[in-house]
Amino acid sequence: MVVGEERGRPKRRREAHGARAWAAALSLLLTLAAACNSNGARSNDVRVQRGAVASEHPLATAVGLDVLARGGNAADAAVATAFALAVVYPQAGNLGGGGFALWVPREGNALALDFRETAPASTLVARYLDDDGKAVADRSRRGPLAVGTPGSPRGLFALYDECGSGLLRFRDLVQPAIELARDGFVVDPWLAQHLVDARDDPKWNDAARALFYPGGEPLAEGAVFVQPALADTLERIARGGPDAFYTGGVATETAEALAALPVEGLTHRVGGSVDLADLAGYAPKWREPLRGWFLGHELFSMPPPSSGGLVVMQSLAVLEGLPLDTELAKGDGEPTARMLHWWIEALRGSFADRAQHMGDPDKVDVPVRALLSPAWVASRRASIGEYARTDVAPWRPPVLEPTETTHVSVVDRDGNALSMTTTLNGRFGAGILAPGGFLLNNELDDFAIQPDAPNMYGLVGSSANAIAPGKRPLSSMTPTVVRSPDGMPELVLGSPGGPRIITSVMQVVLRVLVLEQDLVAAVDAPRLHQQWSPAATWFEASFHGGWDPDLIAALEARGHPIELVERRLGSVQAVHVDPRGVTTAYSDARRGGAAGVEGGAVAQPASPPRR
Ligand code: DON
Repeated sequence: MVVGEERGRPKRRREAHGARAWAAALSLLLTLAAACNSNGARSNDVRVQRGAVASEHPLATAVGLDVLARGGNAADAAVATAFALAVVYPQAGNLGGGGFALWVPREGNALALDFRETAPASTLVARYLDDDGKAVADRSRRGPLAVGTPGSPRGLFALYDECGSGLLRFRDLVQPAIELARDGFVVDPWLAQHLVDARDDPKWNDAARALFYPGGEPLAEGAVFVQPALADTLERIARGGPDAFYTGGVATETAEALAALPVEGLTHRVGGSVDLADLAGYAPKWREPLRGWFLGHELFSMPPPSSGGLVVMQSLAVLEGLPLDTELAKGDGEPTARMLHWWIEALRGSFADRAQHMGDPDKVDVPVRALLSPAWVASRRASIGEYARTDVAPWRPPVLEPTETTHVSVVDRDGNALSMTTTLNGRFGAGILAPGGFLLNNELDDFAIQPDAPNMYGLVGSSANAIAPGKRPLSSMTPTVVRSPDGMPELVLGSPGGPRIITSVMQVVLRVLVLEQDLVAAVDAPRLHQQWSPAATWFEASFHGGWDPDLIAALEARGHPIELVERRLGSVQAVHVDPRGVTTAYSDARRGGAAGVEGGAVAQPASPPRR
């Protein structure tokens, strides 16, 4: 793995966001290595034959495919798909949350858009602590102190404005979502099951309960779900642009609703939640994508404040220097125990660095260059022997996410790729429905409220990810694009799953690029997850038959603490383009998403929901 910078500055079609974000992002540039010449080679005779979309709801995928059919590009399609997800997938699709998008055009430079939520300006750590100074976990998970200033409306508009084809109006991209909200859609088994699961969750506010539990009962599979307040808010955004969300009536109602809510464990109001000034002042940021090369393939992923790209790139860099070929020859297209041992140890080390060093790059110094430096990668690699090293430490000086996030992958016929992950954090976010008909996030739990206090995903952090006014919480979201040496998008992917996002993305990349599995086999394969703390590695126990018990025994013999888990790890949404330009789009059978290629049917959910 060689990690390098884009050559020159990106061509900006429009100057809407100015150069300021770029100036900040340039500090992330990494050492340019010889292998980056691959960016120059382009073979223009290979075309993507049909555009493709993968998302976590069939109706949203259909909206994206329709935009491609109308001449929109991958960015247009992703924006329309995301607005549709805000209606049909309230578990994670959102207006009241945030996310990250990676734009890798066929020509020109890649861009990363950070529309992550921010902590309100009035944030005080003390509000999250009890009288003994101990973190009260629920305060960052539900109620008004859990909510970060939403990024999605301005983020999606920025994506449209900067990367869209210019052929479609913004309101054309919001319109399908308006219709789904106003006319209603049929509740699928996943939404119905998730509402049953969340029925007794104390987080819901009265408005959310009235909408999702009419008459006290969860919306049932097959019911037609209509959301008139959300349709009105979307209509305002379609007509007035995203400012209609951040200023004026929608903003006032949102801020007032939050100010009226009680805080867990307190009888008096404490303030400190998102207010009108936070909303008016929210700005998405363009950042330089992380870019590197793995086995000759060019890889783009998300820089901080997501940890995803950095962890995936460091782990792949460690693995590239190990004798993968020797193991490959023994494995018959499947990873050997020794290869899995390497995957786990590489992840363990990278997650140790995540816990210690990663946070919002606008507020703390994230040592991106050092963490990807050949010297550090080599020393990590050298520390990997034949046995598990659960005592691995972060770079000098130096769990579990009920959860939901959602990912969209799109490729268009021009060869542009868009990979976007958005979230409310937990499933249905903070469970607070704003008067405008949208759910608010509980993203502030992604901060390390205290160094030893794990968040809802069991992740620990350091002062780099301490909560502070205006700061963005560290994320694991990993929108990623792999390009072939001739500049074609080869693999566009991402996933929900908190830290399992990172490990899911990495495993699919490894299976496609190293084990040469086809996309469906690579996504269907059982997964493992390792995040440094706790030391045990999770292995999916039964999905697609689970792992070979002999492999598990061989890893235990190497000293790996292993936990077989019934839960499904991640839900990868991916598009693959083969060397002839033929697209395959696949939505992980672990959840209820759907994928489709232009002119083809939208593939139906593959497996029933489970708790
Ligand atoms: O940004 C993050 O890392 C988390 N808020 C993502 C949450 C998530 O993926 C939940 N999905 N299942």
